[in-house]
Amino acid sequence: MTTTLIRGGLVITAAEETHADVLIDGGRIVALADHAAELPWNADQVIDATGKYVIPGGVDAHTHMEMPFGGTYASDTFETGTRAAAWGGTTTIVDFAIQSVGSGLREGLDAWHAKAEGNCAIDYGFHMILADVNEHSLKEMDALVGEGVTSFKLFMAYPGVFYSDDGKILRAMQHAAGNGGLIMMHAENGIAIDVLVEQAVAAGRTDPRHHGEVRKALLEAEATHRAIQLARVAGSPLYVVHVSATEAVAEITRARDLGLPVFGETCPQYLFLSTDNLAEPDFEGAKYVCSTPLRPAEHQDALWRSLRTDDLSVVSTDHCPFCFTGQKELGRGDFSKIPNGMPGVENRMDLLHQAVVEGRISRRRWIEIACAAPARMFGLYPRKGTIAPGADADIVLYDPHAEQVMSAETHHMNVDYSAYEGRRTTGRVHTVLSRGELVIDGRRYVGHAGHGRYQPRGTCQYLG
Ligand code: URP
Ligand code: ZN
Ligand code: ZN
Repeated sequence: MTTTLIRGGLVITAAEETHADVLIDGGRIVALADHAAELPWNADQVIDATGKYVIPGGVDAHTHMEMPFGGTYASDTFETGTRAAAWGGTTTIVDFAIQSVGSGLREGLDAWHAKAEGNCAIDYGFHMILADVNEHSLKEMDALVGEGVTSFKLFMAYPGVFYSDDGKILRAMQHAAGNGGLIMMHAENGIAIDVLVEQAVAAGRTDPRHHGEVRKALLEAEATHRAIQLARVAGSPLYVVHVSATEAVAEITRARDLGLPVFGETCPQYLFLSTDNLAEPDFEGAKYVCSTPLRPAEHQDALWRSLRTDDLSVVSTDHCPFCFTGQKELGRGDFSKIPNGMPGVENRMDLLHQAVVEGRISRRRWIEIACAAPARMFGLYPRKGTIAPGADADIVLYDPHAEQVMSAETHHMNVDYSAYEGRRTTGRVHTVLSRGELVIDGRRYVGHAGHGRYQPRGTCQYLG
């Protein structure tokens, strides 16, 4: 094992900013010292970080590599998706293993382990999607918590696919209250939405923009409210994923003001894109079809404010890419057949840094919502999400002054469009280490599939 010294950078964590050198040994951070200190350290490798930020690798707690959806599969494999994540400064993903209806959690989790093992450039963990809540799958939750799969996603949307009714949701929450699991909720009233979808398509309103119109903010807010009340009754914590509507944020804020263990996540697409994108002509709006949907731009202020006040605690990508050609096109003439999901695993750290540049959040809050909070939320802290002695040496050297233009021509995700095509941002990943090994070395990929290891997780560290 080589020792590495990162010299001369500004170390930024969620808690502080210090001009410090970082010593790495055996894949872990072993010490930090002031630049000015006389160092007795001899390292095999010295990396010059002068003029750069030295930040923890990003933790993206919401990805869907190779996810089956709408008759096709998300176009990034664990190999291509984790490589792209590394390019974007993310060193850990938590992906969603899926239980099929009629099967157990075990089969689903084994299948996701088989997809990921030996293929990842960076470390990874799993959440479990509960698509079939019954006595057997409830019991299986306990074993999964013991294996480090400590969070379970339920859907109030997508009837006939992943949907659970309120009774099933309550049972799963009661079970999680007993085993320490965290329930993650896709909060949209899918039963009502499906009525509106049917009516829209029957009336010939078939363009992608109607996806945004039928998936109403009020139906996100209603489901969020209901999920919170069900969690209160069950005595379980709740994490609401991909929050996009002001009205849904208000429900989370109210719950948190009552001191309830309710947490919210949003995603870059809701912060930077809007229904204007869904309305792009020539079916281009299909590129932006995801659920919850993009909202009118007026919703963005509430999301940014809530990120500052911690009513929303985490920014994940919900990375679920489908190529425009051949995949999004499945929904030409009927928006309800467009596979739901957008690419973004490579863009998250840069977009959030742009928010720092524009004064929306501080540098430390950038690191908190993108690294430390997701690590704490999902039981990975302080191994992941910070720069401190004992932590894994997952470190990004970030050039805060480099300019870039986001584009499908230059990105590394396996998808034929960029949701942020042509967007200029300031700041760019320069070098990435995962457990002390170089993955990106001065804008050159030097990692390899199979470096990434499965990360068993503890339970949510914001509780108890
Ligand atoms: O549109 C989305 N979000 N696709 C991925 C599945 C989900 O609901 O997170
Ligand atoms: Zn969802
Ligand atoms: Zn998702």
